[in-house]
Amino acid sequence: MQLSPRSPLLLSTLLSSFLFLGACGGGGGSSSGNPSSASASSSSQTSSEASSSSDSSSSSSSEALSLHTLADFPIGVAVSAANEPSSIMQDDEAGVAQRAIIEAHFDQLTAGNIMKMSYLHPAQDTYFFDDADALLDYADDNGISLHAHTLVWHSDYQVPDWMKNFEGDATAWLAMYKEHVETIAGHFAGRVPSWDVVNEAFNEDGTYRNSLFNQKLGTAYIETAFASARQADPQADLYYNDFNISNGGDKFQAMINMVDDFIARDIPIDGVGFQMHVFMDWPSIDAIKSSFAAVAERGLKVKITELDIPINNPYSAGYNYPDNYEATFTDELAAAQKKRYCDIVTAYLDAVPADLRGGLTVWGIRDSDSWLISTLFDNNHEDWPLLFDNNFDPKPALYGVADGLTNQPCL
Ligand code: XIL
Repeated sequence: MQLSPRSPLLLSTLLSSFLFLGACGGGGGSSSGNPSSASASSSSQTSSEASSSSDSSSSSSSEALSLHTLADFPIGVAVSAANEPSSIMQDDEAGVAQRAIIEAHFDQLTAGNIMKMSYLHPAQDTYFFDDADALLDYADDNGISLHAHTLVWHSDYQVPDWMKNFEGDATAWLAMYKEHVETIAGHFAGRVPSWDVVNEAFNEDGTYRNSLFNQKLGTAYIETAFASARQADPQADLYYNDFNISNGGDKFQAMINMVDDFIARDIPIDGVGFQMHVFMDWPSIDAIKSSFAAVAERGLKVKITELDIPINNPYSAGYNYPDNYEATFTDELAAAQKKRYCDIVTAYLDAVPADLRGGLTVWGIRDSDSWLISTLFDNNHEDWPLLFDNNFDPKPALYGVADGLTNQPCL
């Protein structure tokens, strides 16, 4: 099936709907060996091995590879933690396998869910940090950093009920809101290198999303969050994070206008997180590069925060479940996905100067744990958006990332 670009408007509808879903877990894992210092030369070896990496013989090549040693910026992965399905903190098979993968390939984690608003602030007078602290302890023990996600996000399932029902006047709302940001950012100050301060503030047409925070505080809720976060944690890099901003267009321009306004008025912001829930053929590499470059030109960091690349694209003209979709992850599709991962990493290196590279994070480890299976595909069928397969074996995509990081041609 030939995929074609999908409409950002449709993606917006999709994303708005998934944001109301409950937590479904985001991680998975694989076993691989101890990290070894892979170099550019060992990476060219990975290229040739990748062609066979859809079969079981690939796991040995993964043991020679340590993704994060190929980059001088963080290489991250989103994980499920605490008692979520496929938690990396459990001592079951999936937990053990995932920790081996993390320790081999990644030097940064993002919590897929457990550091969102309702998890950390379940009642007005109650903060709950135990699960996040345990994840942070695990990361610290293994020399891994934790990118913190996220202080303010409209998504219904993670806005605490008490906040939705908060009845104070405008002054009380502002005080409550600042306290939320300052208490959480303050708790992790000195222990996390970066925060997604505000997540997904814009609609596809570039207008501000009509979130609870916008309704109660106006669009100033965004700058207020950045100022409060900076006050509570002067060291952490503060990111604005969003999806569908790597293709130019109205939403991208609105983000850029906000960033320019923040810079002009000295509102503290250090970077932009590009979620990069992209497709095999959308956006174009040229569009991705110019979007990254526009942020870097402003002296801000660029971080790829949630990369995944599904094979099926429900917005493409050809997709029509159950009549016409990719039901099998063929070697050809695996090779095309490897190239796509490589092209995106190469675009990042080309467009963003070294001192502005905030890092690259993949949204999950194992394909079957990807959030896209439920939110994008309604659990109708499998897909293969990530770097490791359902048996925790590395996919060609892993070697595509390695090739990109080491300036190899994307094949
Ligand atoms: C997703 C999680 O992966 C799911 O487990 C949860 O059900 C919904 O949220 N953009 C974001 C992430 O910023 O927080 C979202 O994570 C994926 C989209």
